[in-house]
Amino acid sequence: TKQKLWGGRFTGKTDPLMHEFNQSLRYDQRMHAADIRGSIAYSKALTISGILSKAEETKIIEGLEAVEKEWANSQFKIQPDDEDIHTANERRLSELIGPLGGKLHTGRSRNDQVATDMRLWLLDEVKDIETGLKGLLNVMVERADKEKDVLLPGYTHLQRGQPIRWSHLLLSHAFSFHSDLQRLKELVPRISILPLGCGALAGNPFNVDREFLRKELGFQLIAENSLWGVGDRDFIAEFLMWSSLAMTHISRMAEDLIVYSTAEFGFITLSDAYSTGSSIMPQKKNPDSLELLRGKSGRIFGNMAGFLMTLKGLPSTYNKDLQEDKEPLFDTVDNISACFRIAEGVVATMEVHAEKMRQALTMDVLATDLADYLVRKGTPFRETHHISGRAVAMAETRGVQLNELTLEDYRGLSDKFGSDVHAVFDFEASVERRNAIGGTSKDMVARQVDVLRKALSS
Ligand code: ARG
Repeated sequence: TKQKLWGGRFTGKTDPLMHEFNQSLRYDQRMHAADIRGSIAYSKALTISGILSKAEETKIIEGLEAVEKEWANSQFKIQPDDEDIHTANERRLSELIGPLGGKLHTGRSRNDQVATDMRLWLLDEVKDIETGLKGLLNVMVERADKEKDVLLPGYTHLQRGQPIRWSHLLLSHAFSFHSDLQRLKELVPRISILPLGCGALAGNPFNVDREFLRKELGFQLIAENSLWGVGDRDFIAEFLMWSSLAMTHISRMAEDLIVYSTAEFGFITLSDAYSTGSSIMPQKKNPDSLELLRGKSGRIFGNMAGFLMTLKGLPSTYNKDLQEDKEPLFDTVDNISACFRIAEGVVATMEVHAEKMRQALTMDVLATDLADYLVRKGTPFRETHHISGRAVAMAETRGVQLNELTLEDYRGLSDKFGSDVHAVFDFEASVERRNAIGGTSKDMVARQVDVLRKALSS
């Protein structure tokens, strides 16, 4: 008769609903490769400890490799009593190699095993996510480099503020992603800590060589406290926090692009590849890709907040609540990976309408430059701000643009205005004056491209 892995002290049967409730294999099977890797390393460590002979180790490793092959080829047959990936793999190993399979778990617990698997699995995923993030960043930087000549209004409060280069706007989002890239790399040393060898909670009684395990599995550090090693999930919480912040950046960029893709703005058109239509309104082309990028941020914040609530109030070491780390983590990894790839595609393929952007540059966005003009003639900025404001009001009352006021009009506001005042009304000149580091002049935009290119190649 079949036995549960932990069945020895039990006489009663598990309630069928409880059996289902407790089972995590349907989602944790995706860690099969990490689980097998951990077990292969552990069997080698058991040989060093003298628990296994070299021949036994070889047989166990061959068995584990055979199990992994079954997973990889979708041939692994799940049995009803397979509770999670650890029990499933061990059950199958023993079927393949006999009772020797039962030696593998010596001194090990699913508690140090699962923590090890999660860390190994996440370290691999973080590499993929880094690749996805760099792909997006690269497309943004290259696009910004090519489109430096496109000007548009920069907005605050969604009201036209000052002229800027389109590339400057694109790069502002790129710098957020650049910080995300730095932060992602900074997570790695805290994920890369080996729990294996912590046992159930108190440590390993067979003097297992944890330095060997660390090297074998490629971890940077060893968990120095076994209670912490089995109970810590901060590396998951931190990854979820990282994801939430990165999704905030994706969402804010998506929001800009959604607004710019409306007919009212008309600054960009999404490619058909990233848009969908309406089932009733034939004219519609909806930015669903961007809306999902914005919308997915909500579920990812939810994964983070939910998991922090799972952690809060747990007693020390392992509690089954910790099995609830998996679905929020997996869901976050899957969705954020997709988001980076979709965002990359959207940005790479959208059409930028330079002419529409230029048309949105009304003369009032040069009101700051008009004030600055007087500053250069020696008037204190607070006064020039006021004078320029009066010019704006005058133009507004007459229904004309700032550059349509005459020199006499200007001289009526301040005798510092000279015949060169109309030279202010030049958008290109305005952006070129923002030539201090960080500004929207062409050189400073090129500098940003350089900084980000360097970051991407390091
Ligand atoms: N499936 C469990 C989890 O994901 C593995 C650890 C189980 N340990 C235990 N003592 N029940 O957390």
